[in-house]
Amino acid sequence: MDKLDMLYEGKAKKVYSTEDKTYYIMEFKDDATAFNGQKKGTIHDKGIINNRISAFLFELLETNGIRTHFVKLLSDREMLVKAVKILPLEVIVRNIAAGSLAKRLGLEEGTELKRPVLELCYKNDELGDPMINNYHVMALGIAGEEQVKFIEETSLRVNQILRDYFIEKGIILVDFKLEFGIFDGEILLADEISPDTCRFWDAKTGEKLDKDRFRRDLGNVEEAYKEILSRIGKEI
Ligand code: C5P
Repeated sequence: MDKLDMLYEGKAKKVYSTEDKTYYIMEFKDDATAFNGQKKGTIHDKGIINNRISAFLFELLETNGIRTHFVKLLSDREMLVKAVKILPLEVIVRNIAAGSLAKRLGLEEGTELKRPVLELCYKNDELGDPMINNYHVMALGIAGEEQVKFIEETSLRVNQILRDYFIEKGIILVDFKLEFGIFDGEILLADEISPDTCRFWDAKTGEKLDKDRFRRDLGNVEEAYKEILSRIGKEI
């Protein structure tokens, strides 16, 4: 299937239409941004690595009953996905305090949370993706009551599946961000799941194996992304 028009160019991906209205092609770039675009850079081969990791995790989730937009891998940097309409919502699930939660609540990074925390953010670059609750989601008309409930339950199930999977691979799933889209009236998990959108810590050493290496100038960024790829049994 060939790419037609570019419908969207984000910080890390481009989305193209195809001759079949049912599908989009998603292309993963090496570009990296942090702090809402204030820090910019590239991570060599990130697009290839994130394409593979996302494909693998979407398949893992599908096997466990989660409906996603993923159809198949097309090339090193491209995957075929269902033509979803993305909801302007970022769902963050956290198992351990880190990043903005640690800062906001004055918790030491690494503090184990007594139960997973789910946060909703309004996806809007100009506003810096402000945190909202499910009343805002309904008031803004982003989703209805049943849909929000479904999104929250699905996100927590995704957390359980991914957490159980990664701990077997010696990796702690600290937190992650999900996006959902509507396709044919159905809510599907969409976007990507990768070291760009998750915090992964090595279970033995605590080493950060995700985008925090880029955000915080910790070095060995590409190596960290490759390490996650290798733990899921894949190579570049
Ligand atoms: O920065 P914060 O601690 O709120 O991020 C929580 C999780 O959500 C992290 O895994 C981060 O990578 C992810 N995230 C994301 N895209 C955003 C904001 C957060 O992937 N726009």
